[in-house]
Amino acid sequence: MGKIVCFANNKGGVGKTTTAVALGYAWARMGKKVLFVDLDSQANLTAMVSPLAPDEHEASIRDAFLDKNQFKIEHAADHVDLVPSELSLSNFDRDTASVTGREYLLLDLLKPVKSKYDFIIIDCPPALGLITYNALIASDNLVMVATPDGLAYQGMVMVANLYADVKSNPRLNPDLVLSGVIISKYERNKLSDMYVEKIKSEMGDAFIEPVLTKATKIAQAGSFNQNIYDYDPSGKVTKQYLEIAKTLGKRVSGRKL
Ligand SMILES: Nc1ncnc2c1ncn2[C@@H]1O[C@H](COP(=O)(O)OP(=O)(O)OP(=O)(O)O)[C@@H](O)[C@H]1O
Ligand SMILES: [Mg+2]
Repeated sequence: MGKIVCFANNKGGVGKTTTAVALGYAWARMGKKVLFVDLDSQANLTAMVSPLAPDEHEASIRDAFLDKNQFKIEHAADHVDLVPSELSLSNFDRDTASVTGREYLLLDLLKPVKSKYDFIIIDCPPALGLITYNALIASDNLVMVATPDGLAYQGMVMVANLYADVKSNPRLNPDLVLSGVIISKYERNKLSDMYVEKIKSEMGDAFIEPVLTKATKIAQAGSFNQNIYDYDPSGKVTKQYLEIAKTLGKRVSGRKL
């Protein structure tokens, strides 16, 4: 049975999507079968992973939330499938206002396909609304991504509080595990070093080394919708991502990759 892993932080721009994509591709390159689920109406992950133009997708995750017969999985690359997002997912709260059990929509969609994949990767929006709630309820594992600064730290603490709520409620997701805390876009200075140490000491075993360095090539790869293993195969951050993929992959799957 595959594992569902979601990437979250209430703060925007901290590297959630870049990290979700980089780790997913790393696992696919190790021969694992990966499904990406884009839960952000910005559809950044969709643009990075899919060879299709935004208007070429047959159906998005928003369509599937409104009608489960519209749950369409696209093939994106070798070992990589995708459920795309689109801008109108931003209407999710309004769209589902009269739906009972709307916290469980994602769980119900993913249950039947879970056994087909080794890893199902969910990219959350920078918010703690109903969409992220769906992600935490549907997932086996939570990974929090943060840049080493005060606002990203606070956004992470908010996710940690939501995680505690979801986990402590037997009707929500008591089996959810906080499997990773990843620091991204690190640049050496006093403030960053202070936050790295703070996050490390507070997060204990969940903290994952190495800290990801800030690198122009990673931002470039993102802008060109290119994958870092093709764009910068020998880059420092590319290697850091491969190392994290091994550690997190083992934690999540319970086996060495
Ligand atoms: N290690 C890195 N070095 C330099 N730039 C990076 C790095 N990681 C991510 N970026 C860049 O930082 C920006 C934000 O990254 P990303 O989109 O992954 O963040 P996010 O948390 O998903 O944002 P949002 O909350 O808006 O969804 C992007 O332009 C991305 O290319
Ligand atoms: Mg994102």
